[in-house]
Amino acid sequence: MKKLTMDELVNYCKQYGFIFQGSEIYGGLANSWDFGPLGTLLKENIRNAWKKKFIQENKYNYGLDAAIIMNPKVWVASGHVASFADPLIDCKKCKSRHRADKLIEDFTNGDVTADGWSNEELEKYIADNNIVCPVCGKLDYTPIRKFNLLFETSIGVTDDTKNTVYLRGETAQGIFTNFKNVERSMRAKVPFGICQTGKAFRNEITPGNFIFRTREFEQMELEFFCKPGTDLEWFGYWKNYCMDFLRTLGLASTNLRMRDHEKEELAFYSKATTDIEYLFPMGWGELWGIADRTDYDLSVHMDSSSQDLRYLDPETNEKYLPYVIEPSVGLERLLLAIISDAYREEEVGENDTRVVLKLNPALAPIKATVIPLIKKVHGDKATEIYADLCNKFSINYDDAGSIGKRYRRADAIGTPFCITVDDNTINDGTVTIRHRDSMEQETIKVNELSDYISKRIDL
Ligand code: GAP
Repeated sequence: MKKLTMDELVNYCKQYGFIFQGSEIYGGLANSWDFGPLGTLLKENIRNAWKKKFIQENKYNYGLDAAIIMNPKVWVASGHVASFADPLIDCKKCKSRHRADKLIEDFTNGDVTADGWSNEELEKYIADNNIVCPVCGKLDYTPIRKFNLLFETSIGVTDDTKNTVYLRGETAQGIFTNFKNVERSMRAKVPFGICQTGKAFRNEITPGNFIFRTREFEQMELEFFCKPGTDLEWFGYWKNYCMDFLRTLGLASTNLRMRDHEKEELAFYSKATTDIEYLFPMGWGELWGIADRTDYDLSVHMDSSSQDLRYLDPETNEKYLPYVIEPSVGLERLLLAIISDAYREEEVGENDTRVVLKLNPALAPIKATVIPLIKKVHGDKATEIYADLCNKFSINYDDAGSIGKRYRRADAIGTPFCITVDDNTINDGTVTIRHRDSMEQETIKVNELSDYISKRIDL
């Protein structure tokens, strides 16, 4: 099977209305992307699948939608204002900017992970290994300095009342600050979790690889609160849960792997961290981070807010700060993995090929295309069927070009079913259903269509 390049993927996404360059008519804005009609639907379906798996189907978890702009004290307490920073290094010759840890990772093809290294360690490794600037090939860098990733803005209508606030760098902090609210209002008992999806913003030094790393992205995060001592067991539970979800979505097992962080790589408060990595078109990359964050977040917020965030165990009367397991995944990154996994170019018959997006039907942006065989003869009946089905599903109607071309258009955007309306529909109330993956056809009754599709698009 031909491996898709990133350029091909970018072109495909643009051509079929999944993803466009941001601000394109003004020459674009580097690394900003807009989601088109199909990209929006795909994103929504992935988000809904995550919510279903993590909130609706999981007895421990609750949902939340916290504000993007929070009291700036939150970001001071969490440590983001002081140390949410990447190691920035400039090439003195060509003035290009780099993330020092990424230079090392790219140089070693991912064999060395320099996350969490000190500036001195990074500088020494770069010098010892002659890691030249990937743009101009020279080895002449500035010293490394820390570059804070938080985006600042201000609130207030006049200059003298302006206050600096931050666009959230992660959705997680809105969860920690609402821990007590959810516990009280839902009468939740530890262990329980709070889930949130929403935009996060980071002034990344080296965004790139299409939607893999951008400055504005959506996170889907769970903060799972458990009793200290049970944390490593829950850490294992959530790792498996996430992997199971990815397989249910249809990602090939051969394109997924788990990577445990080495001790030196762990954040100082973390007991264990595992990344689920995916084999993207540009190579293996982090898809989903799962971390045991101990009681770090709740304890810093308890200290800074002077609010008691401890949990009172109703059975033992013990008061403690729960430990937190955090599985955190980027929605766009997951979408990138899903599209690259599903994209195929297949030979069908002699000298004929098709592009087909073999998406899990639950994720497909369009569930079915209604096709009148002959527009003039079958158009009215087909319109009637379309009108009935689009109440329940995202449906297309296509009466342009040969039937083969209409099938190809539906295949290329991952539509699982084509419904052909012909003389039989008018005479005996049946339609032909053509399946995207097998291209096989079967005949069913018009009044069974809705149930037929419903049963096949569930996760
Ligand atoms: N609350 C923990 C946290 O934010 P992270 O590893 O920085 O951890 C979690 O981010 C996930 O968010 C990553 O695994 C990735 O899927 C996604 N992500 C992080 N930075 C991103 C960026 N600049 N662009 C797109 N997705 C990003």
